Amino acid sequence: MQNEIYFSGLGGVVPELPMTAAGLEDLARERLSPEAFGYIAGSASTERTAAANLAAFDRHAIVPRMLRGTAAADARDLAVDVLGTRLAAPVLTAPVGVLEMVHPDAEAAVGAVASELGVGSVLSTAASTPIETVAAASGENWWYQLYWPSDEEVAESFVRRAAAAGAKAIVVTADTPGMGWRPRDLVLGHLPFLKAKGIANYLSDPVFRSRLATPPEESTEAMQMAVLTWVSMFGNHALRTRDVARLRDWTDLPIVVKGIVHPDDAREVIDAGASGVVVSNHGGRQVDGAIAALDALPEVAAAIGDRAAVLLDSGIRSGADVMKALALGADAVLYGRPWVYGLGLAGADGVRHALRMLLADFDVNMGLAGFATVAELDPSILRAT
Ligand code: FNR
Repeated sequence: MQNEIYFSGLGGVVPELPMTAAGLEDLARERLSPEAFGYIAGSASTERTAAANLAAFDRHAIVPRMLRGTAAADARDLAVDVLGTRLAAPVLTAPVGVLEMVHPDAEAAVGAVASELGVGSVLSTAASTPIETVAAASGENWWYQLYWPSDEEVAESFVRRAAAAGAKAIVVTADTPGMGWRPRDLVLGHLPFLKAKGIANYLSDPVFRSRLATPPEESTEAMQMAVLTWVSMFGNHALRTRDVARLRDWTDLPIVVKGIVHPDDAREVIDAGASGVVVSNHGGRQVDGAIAALDALPEVAAAIGDRAAVLLDSGIRSGADVMKALALGADAVLYGRPWVYGLGLAGADGVRHALRMLLADFDVNMGLAGFATVAELDPSILRAT
């Protein structure tokens, strides 16, 4: 990517979009609607958890090694295998709902770009596009994220649809039994789901539809009833660790629990049959004042050992951040907000830009710091600052 840009006079391209995650956010603030920007950028309450996520990366510094012969691009192999999913680099796009709010191509564009670049994608239950349509665009390396509806038969239907469509893993989000306290949405009175956005997987689901008296397409009132039915089953306050085991009745796919920050929770969900966890605080959107995801990672990784995969999200903004997460015990990371801004700014091209930027930055930084493979990243490469 560097050469394409620097050698633009020789037929390359000077980028139209900013070359940092922060730059994408700044441009999105200018160009997206206040509702869309507030929904993406916003976090819970004082937004201190979101700030802590970023600050935690600042407290760890990489100590580069020199004269290792790793700087040539062909000296490096950054590919990984996570739960049977082969990735060209240890990155998947995080599940993000309601993408129609920023671009009509939404999840299909994200799945297609991730697949084109050889990385993974995680499709949200709260997507704007039905599972089967996204699956057709997303190649082989996509996982399905489950917001477990309180209506068990709808939950089962989602899992079975995802497996039938080719998902390689089921990611159960544990940190969202209800919506966090989000001032940026509250001040605008904006909750997209109530406008029937982000509920395409429900509206296209035969079991969900069987709960409705009238097909939602028939009238505005019927759609309102469908939205109310969604409200009645979105939040699931009854879920317990042991429920993870029940997923095994519905699928043989690896199960990953997202939103884990306590080592005991990690142990419990692995004991209940999960094959992995995502150390995450949902980008600071749920519990305000919570521990930064990166700070939670070492203890969770130690608790799990080699028993299961460990992924991390919440605060990944650069290649160095990916290195730090891997050094502290993650097998791969989920990349969140920056590509959502990219999607809003330029559709699939914006997602491609954001992802390529992260991947190139990671690759260059690995080489310059003296590492040829991700297996070489461990806590010894970092110093606390
Ligand atoms: C999310 N996240 C999320 N998580 C999930 O499991 N299902 C979902 O539908 C969503 N939706 C969603 C929407 C938006 C706008 C954001 C910003 C986030 C959380 C997401 O998967 C991930 O945990 C965070 O985005 C990580 O934080 P950063 O790195 O993006 O700040």
